[in-house]
Amino acid sequence: MKSNILYPSRISSLAKLNRLLSSEAYSNAKFFILVDENTYNQCLPLLISKVAALENAEFFEVPVGEEAKSLEVAAQLWGALLDSGADRNSLILNLGGGCVSDIGGFVAAGFKRGIRYINIPTTLVGMIDASVGGKTAVNVENAKNQVGFFHQPDAICIYPDFLDTLPDLEIVSGLFEMTKTLLLSDGQAFKSLTDALIGCSAYPLGVIKQYISQCVDFKQSVVDADPYDKSIRKMLNLGHTFGHAIESYMLEQKRAITHGVAVGIGLECALYLSTKKLGLAENTYSLLKKMLHHIVDFERFTLADTEHILSYMRKDKKNADGLILCVLLQEVGTPVIDVAVDENEIRDALLKFSKL
Ligand SMILES: NC(=O)c1ccc[n+]([C@@H]2O[C@H](COP(=O)([O-])OP(=O)(O)OC[C@H]3O[C@@H](n4cnc5c(N)ncnc54)[C@H](O)[C@@H]3O)[C@@H](O)[C@H]2O)c1
Ligand SMILES: [Zn+2]
Repeated sequence: MKSNILYPSRISSLAKLNRLLSSEAYSNAKFFILVDENTYNQCLPLLISKVAALENAEFFEVPVGEEAKSLEVAAQLWGALLDSGADRNSLILNLGGGCVSDIGGFVAAGFKRGIRYINIPTTLVGMIDASVGGKTAVNVENAKNQVGFFHQPDAICIYPDFLDTLPDLEIVSGLFEMTKTLLLSDGQAFKSLTDALIGCSAYPLGVIKQYISQCVDFKQSVVDADPYDKSIRKMLNLGHTFGHAIESYMLEQKRAITHGVAVGIGLECALYLSTKKLGLAENTYSLLKKMLHHIVDFERFTLADTEHILSYMRKDKKNADGLILCVLLQEVGTPVIDVAVDENEIRDALLKFSKL
């Protein structure tokens, strides 16, 4: 099933959502809104005031961040839905970032063997990535996204002004996912966004908002072509083989890093290898590097760091036959998936990560 994407245009996306929820498809449906503490305070009042169809909706609050993505929270929500008389015709609306949409989608996928849900993302990561594509998941025993379902949302409602209250750290997190998407799809847009970021001391939210619908469309087109992540959807992992390993290692070391910044570093490493192995233009790599170091201040890796990161990369579930497989770029817009990279090339790329 294809998700209906509600974008702002002359008509606000919240007005479109109101129209959708008032349509025949949802007559007699009970509406349940999922929030966390921050979206309860920052986003729910606006949503209710603009979407009259949600006047009688019930809302459930989940813990902020990864804590929401647990089997315990899912079980509590299933119980709360039953207590509130939810049935197969009910609809869950996930108002929040990727953590809210991942748990809300998971709960919708399991309840009565699958009920409908709509994502209303309120973070940049949520808008351009987590709300799109139907992957839902919870974490098990501290390991991320171990149990989940593919379950496509009925609709995704993109209201960029929710970003106005988002902390800078969360904007940065989304920025590198946005950079990844533009590297996969549109060289001109990659250059324009990068130039705008390098030219600013703050985050140019107005510019960032302009690229949201393009990123959503691109992800949705990849998902439509490969909904179950068997082939070309893997391209969305650009920067992530390095990124996940860096994130896990930093977590183990108790050196705080967000997923987004780890992906940014991963992108720099992947682009460096792309210049060496696939002939990617040097100026694409140097532009990304300049932008990344303008935004994040991250010390270079030591030899010991690289060995630890490499050991995490060896464990990456996407590797086959003992090879480390990465997505690299031939040129902007032309990714190559499953490129086998040897360990010395990985060491080299990690050691090249620096301001110089
Ligand atoms: N399913 C997928 O395809 C997919 C893709 C990418 C990421 N993810 C998942 O998404 C999660 C990360 O999502 P995220 O980065 O959105 O994090 P998040 O949901 O934890 O949100 C980040 C923080 O921003 C707060 N917040 C949300 N909206 C706000 C607003 N408008 N104003 C002020 N504060 C606000 C949240 O309460 C939270 O503290 C991870 O668990 C990741 O695994 C899933
Ligand atoms: Zn990511």
